Amino acid sequence: MLVPMSEKAFTVKDLFEAPNQKHKILLVEDKDTNRELLRTICESLGLETVEAVNGKEAVELAKSELPDLIIMDVQMPVMDGFEATKLLKSDDLTKNIPIIIVTGFKSRENMIKGISLGAEDFLSKPYDIEEIPIRIHNNLKIKQYHDFLKNFNSVLEKQVEQRTEDLQKVLQELSDAHTKIKSTYKESIYRLTLAAEYKDVVTGMHIRRISLYTKLMAEELGMDEDFMEYIHYSSPMHDVGKVGIPDSVLLKPGPLTPEEWDIMKTHTIIGGKILEGSEYVYIKMAREIALTHHERFDGSGYPYGLKGEDIPLCGRMTFIADQYDALRSKRPYKPEIDHEKTCKIITEGDGRTTPEHFDPKILDLFKKLHKKFEEIYETNKK
Ligand code: C2E
Ligand code: SIN
Ligand code: SIN
Ligand code: SIN
Ligand code: FE
Repeated sequence: MLVPMSEKAFTVKDLFEAPNQKHKILLVEDKDTNRELLRTICESLGLETVEAVNGKEAVELAKSELPDLIIMDVQMPVMDGFEATKLLKSDDLTKNIPIIIVTGFKSRENMIKGISLGAEDFLSKPYDIEEIPIRIHNNLKIKQYHDFLKNFNSVLEKQVEQRTEDLQKVLQELSDAHTKIKSTYKESIYRLTLAAEYKDVVTGMHIRRISLYTKLMAEELGMDEDFMEYIHYSSPMHDVGKVGIPDSVLLKPGPLTPEEWDIMKTHTIIGGKILEGSEYVYIKMAREIALTHHERFDGSGYPYGLKGEDIPLCGRMTFIADQYDALRSKRPYKPEIDHEKTCKIITEGDGRTTPEHFDPKILDLFKKLHKKFEEIYETNKK
């Protein structure tokens, strides 16, 4: 079941934490009369004030009170306004609070220093009673805009977080479903193959080994992960068509008559029919392999006599893996053959098999990997 996406949108109220809150101004002035003047103006504007008499106090108060605006004198004992500005602007908690620096006598030098330290605005002494409310108003608007952006971002972030969480849940469910399908699928492969071979002497271990040889080859050929995975699960189905072969032929202890041989060859076509019409990529590859794992590079194979690269790569790979494994194994019609002799048959031929049957690239690969084939055979014998 899929989890619905959360659709809750943010509201304007989310953006302004406390829309009707009285704005709070931090006044930093060492001279009582100046501070009182500023306080009177602020109060007349309906603003709340907190007061500090030096930079050090200002920094502490700014952190605890989080004012909306700071009006800061420059020359003060203990810590001056520049130092305090520097500290306030380097602290995440306070850096967005606008600071109006109060400079003496329209000092250009102090204004520049104030800017470089991050102050937003300037007032010059002596105070201009008309100018102060305008500066306060403008800077409060800036602060409000900052707050809006900050809240907007945090609301957005929360939404993104929520969406990400929802998506991850869905992905997890998909992945769980996929894992379940895959394990069901693997079980089905096993059942299908078992059904095909229950009457053959070929064992489940043969199926497993074919899977391992072909995967090993795919890896050595530098095929991508998908191909490796597909051939790993598809190649074991190469002989499913043997379900359609009568016991009298399949289990015959000796050589086949030409009629029996014609019947035997149809296991490729029957396999193709069984695996036909699936959209599932594993089954599609399994069908190709079932149809083409007895085709030979020189065109002498069956059922179609395909030649060279007309034979799908997965078929060419499974062909050599099947040969190696069938040669090593005991069959009703043949005894086991050891690794060395098997390699000789594959690489030099024995009359029935010739090296021309194989894709030369795949044959080279086999020569390179034969020790690993042996290892797979020996460690997955029974
Ligand atoms: P299989 O027994 O699984 O053998 C798969 C393939 O391994 C064979 O495909 C063949 O290419 C190779 N192979 C197996 N044994 C030998 C061997 O002794 N020498 C050489 N050079 N290659 C060998 P092929 O020939 O297309 O046979 C397909 C299937 O037909 C075999 O599957 C087996 O089920 C059946 N079959 C083949 N020959 C005989 C036989 O003489 N008697 C009986 N009863 N069945 C046979
Ligand atoms: C099979 O070939 O998978 C059936 C025989 C067995 O499991 O030993
Ligand atoms: C295939 O590509 O599906 C196998 C070859 C064929 O059907 O001729
Ligand atoms: C063939 O060569 O394709 C059939 C003869 C055999 O494998 O015994
Ligand atoms: Fe076969």
